[in-house]
Amino acid sequence: MTTLIPLQDRRPASPVRAQNLLAVASGKGGVGKTWFAITLSHALARARQRVLLFDGDLGLANVDIQLGLMPHRDLASVLGGQAPFAQAVTHFAPGKFDIVAGRSGSGCLSGITPARLHGLTDDLMAAAVAYDTVIVDLGGGIEQTVRELTRRAAGAIVITTDEPTALTDAYAFIKFTRMDQPAGDISIVVNKATSRAEGERTYATLNRACQGFLGFSPRLLGVVRRDVLVREAIRIQSPILTGFPSSDAASDVEAVAQRLLSG
Ligand SMILES: Nc1ncnc2c1ncn2[C@@H]1O[C@H](COP(=O)(O)OP(=O)(O)OP(=O)(O)O)[C@@H](O)[C@H]1O
Ligand SMILES: [Mg+2]
Repeated sequence: MTTLIPLQDRRPASPVRAQNLLAVASGKGGVGKTWFAITLSHALARARQRVLLFDGDLGLANVDIQLGLMPHRDLASVLGGQAPFAQAVTHFAPGKFDIVAGRSGSGCLSGITPARLHGLTDDLMAAAVAYDTVIVDLGGGIEQTVRELTRRAAGAIVITTDEPTALTDAYAFIKFTRMDQPAGDISIVVNKATSRAEGERTYATLNRACQGFLGFSPRLLGVVRRDVLVREAIRIQSPILTGFPSSDAASDVEAVAQRLLSG
């Protein structure tokens, strides 16, 4: 006798995580995740990588705002059932990378159900095979969307600044991520640092807490200096590597990209 298998059960099981997917996280909001995720995507694309940037801040998306994009299709179209995931991929020609944008200003995706979130991450994993690297810009906090997207990533880049609240929240993110996937790769980028030396001291503070309480040492991936041109690039809605490629902050992110490429 033939047993009928419901359609949804016939889909091949999606892999637990994509080896080329990197989540940009922080815990605390406003530390520069979105700007860093855009600039890292751009730097990797300039190094001839095929890159997809996914706006994973489902509640308060703003990759589109920082780049002045008005995509025809976005994640809201996908989750609203108006378009398949593939149609939400927009090519960002000035940066030579692809973007799946959220819908800024609507907040309509903040209450996504676990089942829909799972379906969306499955679509992202399927799309990831066409790229060398997929960068996911996460929202702040450590709620379910952040944790689910991080679980699907091969590694998390945790952005912090020297503010005690940013350090505490980065530590909280690292602690939860270690609980979810003890073998997951976690690295640190200190952003808005007044100098490289000061950024290294900030990293050392966070590393001491991780060593002391978690018995684990995330590596320092880079220090990005505070730079007035970051704000200016965002104001004119243009990537910093286009308008100000030799600025301090742009060069620091390019160094991070080179470090990632050299393994
Ligand atoms: N290296 C830097 N130097 C100066 N300003 C910076 C730097 N990086 C980010 N900023 C500023 O920090 C602010 C927040 O940046 P961004 O929106 O990328 O942060 P976020 O972590 O994504 O925030 P949210 O959690 O709200 O999504 C912006 O106004 C940006 O200009
Ligand atoms: Mg953001």
